[in-house]
Amino acid sequence: MKNPLINWFESRLHLAEVIGPSMTHPVPRSAKWWYVFGSMTLVLFMCQVATGISLSLLYVPSAGQAFESLEYITFQAEMGWFLRALHVWGSHLMVAAMTIHMIQVFLFGAFKFPRELTWILGVLLFLCTIGMAFTGQVLRWDQDSYWGLSVGMSMAGRVPWIGPGLVHFVLGGAIIGGESLSRFFTLHVFVIPATLMGLIGLHLLLVIKKGINEKPTPGVLVEKSNYEEKYHDLVKKRGMPFFPNAAGRDMIACGITLGLVFFCAMMFGPAGPTGEPNPTYIQTAPRPDFYFQSAFAVLALLPPYMETFLILGFPILALSTLILLPFLSPGGEKHWRRRPMSVIFVISLMLILSTLTYLGYKSPWSPVMDAWSGIPTPIEYVKGRTPLELQGAIVIQNKQCRNCHMLDGRGGKRGPALDDVASRLNGDQLIRQVLQGGGNMPAYGKHLSPEEVSALAAFLQTMTNAWQHEPAAGYSTNPRPTQDPVPPILPNS
Ligand code: HEC
Repeated sequence: MKNPLINWFESRLHLAEVIGPSMTHPVPRSAKWWYVFGSMTLVLFMCQVATGISLSLLYVPSAGQAFESLEYITFQAEMGWFLRALHVWGSHLMVAAMTIHMIQVFLFGAFKFPRELTWILGVLLFLCTIGMAFTGQVLRWDQDSYWGLSVGMSMAGRVPWIGPGLVHFVLGGAIIGGESLSRFFTLHVFVIPATLMGLIGLHLLLVIKKGINEKPTPGVLVEKSNYEEKYHDLVKKRGMPFFPNAAGRDMIACGITLGLVFFCAMMFGPAGPTGEPNPTYIQTAPRPDFYFQSAFAVLALLPPYMETFLILGFPILALSTLILLPFLSPGGEKHWRRRPMSVIFVISLMLILSTLTYLGYKSPWSPVMDAWSGIPTPIEYVKGRTPLELQGAIVIQNKQCRNCHMLDGRGGKRGPALDDVASRLNGDQLIRQVLQGGGNMPAYGKHLSPEEVSALAAFLQTMTNAWQHEPAAGYSTNPRPTQDPVPPILPNS
């Protein structure tokens, strides 16, 4: 080093000493294009940090102003729409690149000895990235994010024992409000990114220390006793320096990635905002971002008795399997051709996820908007009913409850079929469900007159599936009406 200034810093920092060897450390020659997805994810993360910081200059994290500030960024600030588009497409592509990276590592057996910890840190990075995607979607603070969050929270609320406490903790109150936005802002801007940066540092350190996985050969087994020795031999004899050989490929891939972000941002623009968040506004078809669509489809399609198990059990099961994977399969074959179960697993997972995403975009998440039109109420349900009850049948028809609820096997599938609802719920519970909604159902309190509510309640209480069941017993002060019922509870009382 000739430059005295550089020398001055170097003699204090010893950077070249530390970074030099890691830049030129030998990597297997077989590390080709399949190995670029990790770097792609990293460059996308840096891109997110840059666009995120710029956005935070204009975004106002307060429930009253967030939506307005978004509209300002999108429609008035110079190139603001483009900044938002870069940020959202960067996040989509980051999730995609990370997923491909994970699948590649899984199929190439790179998680096996001695890279277990690298894999586990990767799983944590995956969680943090998904966390960023979810919290970022909430910051959009529009109809999509409001409903996405409320569905997510009504799911979380069903976790036994800690459910309600958990919801309260996450939202900062009983309902989605200003405190919720502050919490998600803090998570999205400070807590998760800081964690991500720390984890990325460790992950990269391990990548350098433990080396890049050699391209697997069928029949070559990983054995703890001699793997590291063989690996060092391999990279010494037939390796290449990371810089410039392998790094060059990474840089090309990163350039393409950034180009793709620009292209998508230019072509498809930012996401939303899709209207001011308003819980009473039900003429809306909210959609979560695509990677959450499959999760919502599962929750919408499953029978309710499995939901709790799934909400609680599945994430724990999936996460512990991912973390334990390197210990479940620490050695042996690495090549995917000799690991058919792994290949089948990846293919089925992808098929399931894409089917669910497709279903999520189709019926279950959004109500079936034309389910009601022209489908008459089944004759048995209106035979011999009082005028009030018949009036209730008309309300069901007119208020499009069948967009989400089936009668006699016809209608939407988002909510439970109503044929025998009176054998599950008593009068009070029926009215409460209609007025306050809950569990993915919008609240109808402001959309129904008191007369409509009492007619509805009267009709719903006849729905016991042709009297096969006794009506639900309970603490109702308002037993099932026989003739002219007095309107039970007025919605504004
Ligand atoms: C956007 C879809 C949607 C619409 C529209 C809708 N519901 Fe629901 N409804 C649901 C969902 C989802 C549930 C399940 C809630 C839960 O699991 O807690 C539900 C539950 C119910 C229940 C309780 C059923 C049970 O067995 O627990 C009743 C009663 C009900 N809805 C009545 C109505 C009526 C009456 C209307 C029309 C005024 C209506 N719903 C409109 C989605 C909807």
